[in-house]
Amino acid sequence: MTDFINALNSLKKKGYYRSRAVMSSAQDTIIKINGKKIINFSSNNYLNLSNNTQLKKLYAKKINEYGIGSGSSPLISGYSKEHHQLEKELAKYTGFESAIVTNSGYLSNVGLLNAITEKETIVYQDKMNHNSIVEGTRLSSSKLIRYRHNDYNDLINKISSHKCKTKIIYVDAVFSMTGEISNLKILSEIAKDYKALLVVDDAHGFGVIRYKKNSFPTTLGMFKKQDLNIDAYIGTFGKAVGTFGSFIASTNDLIDLVVQKSKPYIYSTSLPMALAGITRDSLRYIKSNYEINEKLVHNIEYFKKTAEKHNIVIEESDTPIQIKIFGSPKKVLDIQRKAFAEGLFIQAIRYPTVPKNSDLIRIGLTAGHKRKHIETLLNFLKRI
Ligand SMILES: Cc1ncc(COP(=O)(O)O)c(C=O)c1O
Repeated sequence: MTDFINALNSLKKKGYYRSRAVMSSAQDTIIKINGKKIINFSSNNYLNLSNNTQLKKLYAKKINEYGIGSGSSPLISGYSKEHHQLEKELAKYTGFESAIVTNSGYLSNVGLLNAITEKETIVYQDKMNHNSIVEGTRLSSSKLIRYRHNDYNDLINKISSHKCKTKIIYVDAVFSMTGEISNLKILSEIAKDYKALLVVDDAHGFGVIRYKKNSFPTTLGMFKKQDLNIDAYIGTFGKAVGTFGSFIASTNDLIDLVVQKSKPYIYSTSLPMALAGITRDSLRYIKSNYEINEKLVHNIEYFKKTAEKHNIVIEESDTPIQIKIFGSPKKVLDIQRKAFAEGLFIQAIRYPTVPKNSDLIRIGLTAGHKRKHIETLLNFLKRI
């Protein structure tokens, strides 16, 4: 592609051109964009921890102790006791043998696919999977086959009709642009029946979905342990955990293979030690502060109940990701602009993030929202 100007003009004409809002405050419930204070419904900061006072103090201490950067990739000198301890704790929190810390959720998916797939591997994916899983498969030598969104019969039809050395079912546990939760019990059964590996990306469920008071919140906790047959699990720190980075949890052998073969892991500077350290603190904070998850659930319920009362049609979702589909990129951009003028930051999500004609408004609820924030939002949604 050499005709950059035409490419940009074409995006603009179709309503698919993207621009970045410049924020000049901390990531929080109220943020500052273009000098204007605004209620933030556009983050994945689900537990509102990224600007948490207690964690910020602990982070400052860690920075004093370890400095700012890690200075090297993990296999050279960028792997510290903080990374090591974090991995041990992650394995415990998620119930897997082992875990490996990576630089981002995107790189967890790209790196895992890079390490565990070969030419004779087929990766079966839901059509609404996150782009990092799709792109990770395309970048690997394996074959990508996509099935209709949440259509497990379509998956069975496809997976039963191919012969290959390794089959992998790879799915979002919570779909990032709809908030729907995958049925990991059914997917586990299908994986077992067709001798496939099952990989689950829980970027939007890790730290968020809390069914058991005393265990760490994950989407896995919604299901009975004996009903799950998951080979690898991915979680991220940049969303509910409030820090940055990601991890893969699995068996000792699979994690060792990632260390040996994952190019994004081997050839990239590791997360700063202080960041690995503060992530440990944040995970501990989440585990011992049940109330923040309760507050989040409360906000989700309040949003849904009040929307229904006002006859505002939203898609079904029990997670902090709430959406309203409009099916036109220009329409959702216009709504985003109007919301901004009224002091609300909501996101217009357009193709190719969602399929064509499914353009939508995405609302990210957090534990930091107050009733009055949610009411202001619903008051706006009622009028559009
Ligand atoms: C399902 C899923 N996986 C991975 C990622 C990427 O995670 P990160 O932001 O840590 O790169 C996202 C980001 O939104 C996501 O929704």
